[in-house]
Amino acid sequence: MAMWLRLKITLLLLLSTNVLESYGFTQRSWSESADLANKTVALLTLDEKIGMVTGVGQFNSRCVGNIKPPNRSLSITTSSNTVLNVSIPPLCFQDGPAGLRLVKNVTGFPTGINAASTFSRRLMRARGEALGEEFRGKGVNVFLGPAMDIMRNPKAGRGWESFGPDPYLNGEGAYETIIGVQSAGVMACAKHYLANNQEHWRYGLSANVDERTLREMYWWPFMRSIDANVSSVMCAYNRLNGTSSCHNEDLIGLLSEGGFQGFVVSDWGATHDSATDNALAGLDMEQPGDFILIGGGVYGNGLKNAVNDGSVPVEVLNGMVAKILTPWFVLGQDQGFPAINFDAQHADGSGNLNLNVNVRTDAHTELTREIGRASAVLLKNNRTTTDGTPTGTTIRGLPVSQERIKSIAIIGRDAKLPNLDCNPPLTAGLNQCNDGTMSIGWGSGSNSLDFIVPPNTAIRDFVGNSATITESLSNDRPAGPNAAIGKDLAIVFANAMSGELGFYFVVDGNQGDRNDLDLWFKGGSLIEAVAAVNNNTVVVIHSVGPVPMPWSNHPNITAIIYAGAPGEQTGPSLVDVIWGAYNPRGRLPFTIADSEDDYGTTIVYNSITGFPTIDYTERLLLDYRYMDSKNIAPRFEFGFGLSYTKFEYSSLSISSSGSSQVVSFTIKNTGGLDGTEIPQLYLGFPGSAGEPEKVLRGFDEVDLKAGESKQVSLTISEREMSVWDTPSHSWVRPQGTFEVFVGASVKDIRLTGSF
Ligand code: NOJ
Repeated sequence: MAMWLRLKITLLLLLSTNVLESYGFTQRSWSESADLANKTVALLTLDEKIGMVTGVGQFNSRCVGNIKPPNRSLSITTSSNTVLNVSIPPLCFQDGPAGLRLVKNVTGFPTGINAASTFSRRLMRARGEALGEEFRGKGVNVFLGPAMDIMRNPKAGRGWESFGPDPYLNGEGAYETIIGVQSAGVMACAKHYLANNQEHWRYGLSANVDERTLREMYWWPFMRSIDANVSSVMCAYNRLNGTSSCHNEDLIGLLSEGGFQGFVVSDWGATHDSATDNALAGLDMEQPGDFILIGGGVYGNGLKNAVNDGSVPVEVLNGMVAKILTPWFVLGQDQGFPAINFDAQHADGSGNLNLNVNVRTDAHTELTREIGRASAVLLKNNRTTTDGTPTGTTIRGLPVSQERIKSIAIIGRDAKLPNLDCNPPLTAGLNQCNDGTMSIGWGSGSNSLDFIVPPNTAIRDFVGNSATITESLSNDRPAGPNAAIGKDLAIVFANAMSGELGFYFVVDGNQGDRNDLDLWFKGGSLIEAVAAVNNNTVVVIHSVGPVPMPWSNHPNITAIIYAGAPGEQTGPSLVDVIWGAYNPRGRLPFTIADSEDDYGTTIVYNSITGFPTIDYTERLLLDYRYMDSKNIAPRFEFGFGLSYTKFEYSSLSISSSGSSQVVSFTIKNTGGLDGTEIPQLYLGFPGSAGEPEKVLRGFDEVDLKAGESKQVSLTISEREMSVWDTPSHSWVRPQGTFEVFVGASVKDIRLTGSF
């Protein structure tokens, strides 16, 4: 282990306190909190209320967003007749969904898309809890996440921040993250509401979505966020059906119909037109308050004038403030919540006011590593016998035998420590200048890479003197293939990146969205050149989403790992999988097809008429649902991933329980190694329902020792068996026979039944 890493871990162990144990706050009910919020509002002046709902300006602010709270303590009488003294802080809003943005001494967690790859509610929840701990530790009141934008097209720049193209998987990811984050007393913010699915033209494009598609695809994860009692929702930059999201009364109205009791905050600068339009439509807070892209800066005096001239009734303003304060009281943020102790406006992360506040614990490092290895998807492996057990007769493939592999080549720029410096430095820090391994995309959703352990370092640390290592840490040819010649093993790394559009984020010609699906820096050619000279080539892909793999059947490519964007413990988590200390179990949260046409959607890059209108004519058919409908055989399908062992499914039974259906079956580990299987449940609706052939409605993670069997039960709720009925504007369970498909991927169905 490198000296600096050892030092860091020792330091963290010494400083580490269990933050969870020291929270010491009591959560309140929503009704009690609403009462406290209303009583607080009653004590505020008009200016104080305006200060509560208006950002103070992104670059006047310590966090990416703050408000101006009343500068005094307020005494309110609770329902049990005690006096509560309340001091409202400047409320700190901070990105992003995979860890603190532009802050030192924090963890670079795995991305949302890798959390999805685990198909593990346990790990999704644990990631949320750890994020919550770190945001709390830095005094962040509102965690700007989770992102739950459906990956409508695989090139969408911010797809990696969310949980992929499937609404159900997005919903589960959102639900678990929110429960986790809020358990630390930090408010979560579900974003981006709604249909924020590409970066080009995002500040004004109109996503035109019919009612059923909207509910079943794009609303679904927000509905699950409300199930998790999310504190806030961020309205998006784009327009929905012609009206800008933040003053779209119908759209915002859905939230309260769905039971949402928190506040709606604008994306940064996403407010258009007048304060009155936005306030009457239900926008509770504008951020950052003065940030004008093509909108922004409409509250403040604009809202004060609107209240004074009666166009916004004061009751509306009171309601806005109360909705902000309600979740603040629910999560006990009035009880000893840490003060802000960093300054995010320094691009190099400096300016942290108190670096001794230790919020990053060794447990978070370990969790990041665990999610990293649990999300690594083994797509191909030669080194197996028919029962799945690694065979002793060949050393080609995975896991690598430390006894028998004596020379290793590590090839590709994606294997090395990234140099993150940008020129000019104004733009540094959001990972858009990455010239090494890709562990997260760029933009506001990026995180701190201070502690990143790249693949080459981790491999060297692990291998030690047991093999010789040759490195070629660029994508140059012939250097890469030359390094591979004559080696027992060549590990070749390649990546594809994307990120957020911003006025300064054009990376290698890509404005957020990827220009194409291909690997960057000629990574595909590098892989082929290495495979041409080494018959034990293992490919590792770090990518923000699917990349075509025309080389996957090359006989010299003995294994492929799709590692996604796994966060700072990228190297160690790969070592765990490659050398077999950990049996891979990650699954693809999207399909890897051969061409973009196989996905049935596009990114609109060019529009001569200005902000385009994008019709979501594919309706419910994204990713595997589209490919099923067109009989497209994918290269690696949704839900796919190999293990070093094999699993057998049997004994399906289906029974009703109230309005739900319970699907039970048995899984046996028939191979020679302990492992984890990810059974998936897909539902086939009655023909009359007009649903895709199969839709994901359940999954689990099942740990099984070699030879062990377990019974698994997955429950399908009434809502999960329903479709959105546009004429009646409601969820309706269709009449007829439902088919149940249980299997190891959407194409690898092992058991079928019906009810
Ligand atoms: C704009 C991004 O769309 C949003 O996700 C982020 O939270 C805000 N900027 C604040 O940085």
